[in-house]
Amino acid sequence: MIEEPEYLRHIQRRIESLEKEVHTLLTGIDELTLEFGCGHGHYLTAYAEAHPQEECLGLDLVTKRIEKANAKVEKRNLTYVRFLKAEAAEFLSVFPESTQITKVFMLFPDPWPKKRHFKNRMIQSSFLSVLAEKCPKGAQFFFRTDHSGYFDWTKEHFQEHDDWEIDPDAAWPFEQTSYFQDMMDSWQSLIAKRV
Ligand SMILES: C[S@@+](CC[C@H](N)C(=O)[O-])C[C@H]1O[C@@H](n2cnc3c(N)ncnc32)[C@H](O)[C@@H]1O
Repeated sequence: MIEEPEYLRHIQRRIESLEKEVHTLLTGIDELTLEFGCGHGHYLTAYAEAHPQEECLGLDLVTKRIEKANAKVEKRNLTYVRFLKAEAAEFLSVFPESTQITKVFMLFPDPWPKKRHFKNRMIQSSFLSVLAEKCPKGAQFFFRTDHSGYFDWTKEHFQEHDDWEIDPDAAWPFEQTSYFQDMMDSWQSLIAKRV
């Protein structure tokens, strides 16, 4: 018998544990506002304070950032916003059928400027397909970046995708500078909707 390599078992255990955590967090939640790559949670915390009727969840890969973000919302007693350490695609792979994602934010994601690293960008056709399965028609995706190459990449991915359409008339729902936005002189925004 061929033994399963230890790293595969490790990934399997991590996904099982993430699934339990995500299902516990989202029990009883029908509609969710989600931020991918939330960093220290500056944007989503302020957004949630202004939108107490929405259940919000922010994801990031970095544990320290998530701890800081959760400390922020606990201090403000915002019980309807939480932050979770998770990789975006892994998170979607364990997302429960009982919840729908109605708003998505992705602000200043890592641009991975070199061509050989484009595969690391969060925006990929496969990512938009899996996300679309969790979103009802009319769900909105709010994207902002300072990197013109990543902006064009994202625009093309939405234009070419059957499940999404760029909505040039939609308004940015809430302005609050994120940690990275604060360091930038300019940026571009794009809003897409699930069709
Ligand atoms: C440039 S920072 C922007 C943080 C924040 N949105 C802001 O505007 O200040 C990008 C963030 O995305 C996170 N990130 C990168 N790839 C990710 C992935 N695949 N899943 C979840 N988070 C990711 C990084 O850890 C980092 O905190």
